[in-house]
Amino acid sequence: MKLHKPEPHWSGAKPPVIEKSQIPKHVAVVMDGNGRWAKNKGLVRTEGHRAGEAPLFDMVEGAIEIGVKELSAYAFSTENWKRSPEEVKFLMGFNKEVLRRRRDQMNELGVRIRWIGQEKKLWSSVVDELLEAEELTSKNKVLTLNMCVNYGGRAEIVSAAEALARDFKRGKVSKFDEKSFTKYLELPSDVDLFLRSSGEQRLSNFLPWQSAYAELVFMDVLWPDADRRTLWKAIEEYASRNRRFGKA
Ligand code: IPE
Ligand code: IPE
Ligand code: MG
Repeated sequence: MKLHKPEPHWSGAKPPVIEKSQIPKHVAVVMDGNGRWAKNKGLVRTEGHRAGEAPLFDMVEGAIEIGVKELSAYAFSTENWKRSPEEVKFLMGFNKEVLRRRRDQMNELGVRIRWIGQEKKLWSSVVDELLEAEELTSKNKVLTLNMCVNYGGRAEIVSAAEALARDFKRGKVSKFDEKSFTKYLELPSDVDLFLRSSGEQRLSNFLPWQSAYAELVFMDVLWPDADRRTLWKAIEEYASRNRRFGKA
């Protein structure tokens, strides 16, 4: 199969020129503000979720253009079950629909889709769709898109601790340290840039272990109004920061 190049942005915008060492390898995105966007327009909340599809896939193209290798998108948290049954039902169906609609495009762009999250409670039809997208794109190398669906950071850490303890007891691992623990996480890679839309300044249980040393960038834009330029702006901010990792 021939790899497709990302479509340029409709505005003609090009990625900013930034030295390669200053480009984050792994970007985590909290796609927040759909409900407020809909409310501002006098629409129902679910219309905001619908309008949130395009920004994600535009960002994927922008991430490829600028050279990001891994993008983790928070699509549904383990806390989002607390929403109304109607909204939860919409989000389940919509996630399924989007995966099916986008998987070929992602595959042609060389994007590897991975599902990160808990199976418990998640609709089995959504799990099936996620596994299908994973299988179709498993060999792709341009960018990894981690779809975090029914993801919770604390749940991930507890599961990892449980698995490590089990293997430790069986003598399969001899060490209980950060390195051996990280291997048991669903998503072992450190986040370089943690981006959240909507102006809220919190992690909301997204990749807490992986983001321990991430640069946090909070953007005021509501998610449906975001696009690849939002990502590029955040990367410019990231590139201007001085990551010290504790060194003087
Ligand atoms: C983020 O938008 C999407 C999901 C959590 C699925 P919200 O639905 O949280 O939008 P706000 O925060 O209410 O505006
Ligand atoms: C985080 O946003 C979850 C997703 C974007 C999927 P929320 O809107 O659920 O987070 P809180 O409730 O503002 O912390
Ligand atoms: Mg929100």
